[in-house]
Amino acid sequence: MALFGKDKKKSDIPQIVPRHVAIIMDGNGRWAKRRGLPRTAGHAAGAETFRRVASICREWGVEYLTVYAFSTENWKRPAEEVSAIMELLRKYLLEAIAEMEKEKIRIVFFGDLSPLPAELRQLAEETVERSAKYGPCQVNICLNYGGRDELLRAARAFAADCAAGKRTPEELSETVFSNYLFSAGIPDPDLLIRPGGEERISNFLLWQAAYAEFYFSDVNWPDFDREELRKAFAAYALRQRRYGGV
Ligand code: IPE
Ligand code: IPE
Ligand code: MG
Repeated sequence: MALFGKDKKKSDIPQIVPRHVAIIMDGNGRWAKRRGLPRTAGHAAGAETFRRVASICREWGVEYLTVYAFSTENWKRPAEEVSAIMELLRKYLLEAIAEMEKEKIRIVFFGDLSPLPAELRQLAEETVERSAKYGPCQVNICLNYGGRDELLRAARAFAADCAAGKRTPEELSETVFSNYLFSAGIPDPDLLIRPGGEERISNFLLWQAAYAEFYFSDVNWPDFDREELRKAFAAYALRQRRYGGV
């Protein structure tokens, strides 16, 4: 029986595993609404899904998982929803710090953390510091992240380096510019998954997704499980990536 369990687990790993998976974790609110629950219950369920999916990605050998947790536009939501999301993130990070020894996942944040509640910001910094030694799986949590904001920051930083005489405009190449992004040093996403039924990018990884394969699912994020992830990987395995070639 034990052997069977072991074999079953082994064959469970998809044959083709993208090196970098990006996920727009969408549909929490609708998941809750359908159940007659407050939207915040959907965010709580979504946080659990994130934990499970990150663990499966680590188990399957994904090197980078980038998740969209809170966008620069999400501040438009009612204050109670925003603070409930912040509180969930705080709770998640506290638990993540405790769990890290087990999962050995390196955690990094993409986004401007300065407008976040001080305690959450400190926890985020502590998580990054404490998990820096872990690997090979890295999870990038996009928090107060926007693709356009990221590009503006990079342009501003490059211009500042030029003004300071550290760079010249002629030096700017795709490689140089990439190094000014939050994702500096990380390969571009291979597979971008959006659950929740919407088929749009919503300001996520605008630069990095240039050649990502897209996978849309009608399943709301809280219901996204191992089977759904396997379906996404199976669809990815059938894609022919040409990068403009033939
Ligand atoms: C995604 O779920 C979570 C965040 C954007 C923070 P939503 O809250 O957008 O859920 P829907 O799209 O309203 O169902
Ligand atoms: C994208 O979802 C942002 C996150 C999942 C964090 P949204 O729910 O904010 O996107 P739109 O508004 O439907 O485009
Ligand atoms: Mg949404």
